[in-house]
Amino acid sequence: MKIAVVTGAAGGLGQAISAALAETHHVIGLDLKSSAVAESIEINLTDAAAIASCFEAIAERHGGVDVLVNNAGTCFMSDFPDIPVEEFEAQMSVNFSSMFHCCQAAIPLMQGRDGVRKIINISSNGAYNFDVFDPPHYRASKAAMDTLTKDLARRYASEKIAVNSIAPAMTETPLFGVLDDATLAKAISAMPHGKPMQPDQIAGWVAHLAGPMGDVCSGNVIILNQGRDVR
Ligand SMILES: NC(=O)c1ccc[n+]([C@@H]2O[C@H](COP(=O)([O-])OP(=O)(O)OC[C@H]3O[C@@H](n4cnc5c(N)ncnc54)[C@H](O)[C@@H]3O)[C@@H](O)[C@H]2O)c1
Repeated sequence: MKIAVVTGAAGGLGQAISAALAETHHVIGLDLKSSAVAESIEINLTDAAAIASCFEAIAERHGGVDVLVNNAGTCFMSDFPDIPVEEFEAQMSVNFSSMFHCCQAAIPLMQGRDGVRKIINISSNGAYNFDVFDPPHYRASKAAMDTLTKDLARRYASEKIAVNSIAPAMTETPLFGVLDDATLAKAISAMPHGKPMQPDQIAGWVAHLAGPMGDVCSGNVIILNQGRDVR
């Protein structure tokens, strides 16, 4: 069975992504908390050295990695310019540095394996839509992620490592808890279907990219938002 590493596997999207991949992959979940996956590893992904050791252990146990889903993330809600330096650094560290270091550790474990290997980064519509609530350090962390997606896609295309981002809008997960009731209601009412998306709807796209149809797709940011931002 192919080996898939999913970060943030204990969260709303992470659980759905892990379940969707479990049909075809041995799923290893990386999260602060224990995840309901074949192999759960508790790790703080803001610790680059811990990421390096974790992937070394995965290489020893499984010989390599076929799919990496960088999904761990959060949204700190202080607004500009009153964003404490610690919060800015934590936002970039959880959402961007963690995926940078996971890519650094995983790509050598993908090289030389059969087929097209996949990196799928869970970005956000917040990097592209400036009408909704997202604070600037959250937007910037996801924009940085999407630039790394394109760099790695270009860099590793001929080695058959495909790298894409999926950028969802409002999806019903525990992350809704960072919003006050009025902000949440306004953001949901802006969704064209009048309701948020569900985690399994996003997970289906991840599984599609991880499967054979994803072999020819690389360097893209796929926006999922019910058509909200079409102008
Ligand atoms: N829910 C949405 O509407 C939405 C929209 C756009 C993008 N996203 C993105 O989707 C991803 C998943 O979010 P979610 O909605 O499932 O939220 P969630 O809070 O349910 O899940 C996030 C998971 O990441 C884990 N995590 C956070 N910090 C970590 C760390 N330092 N080390 C290890 N694990 C850590 C958490 O423990 C949690 O299990 C995030 O990157 C988020 O930015 C979500």
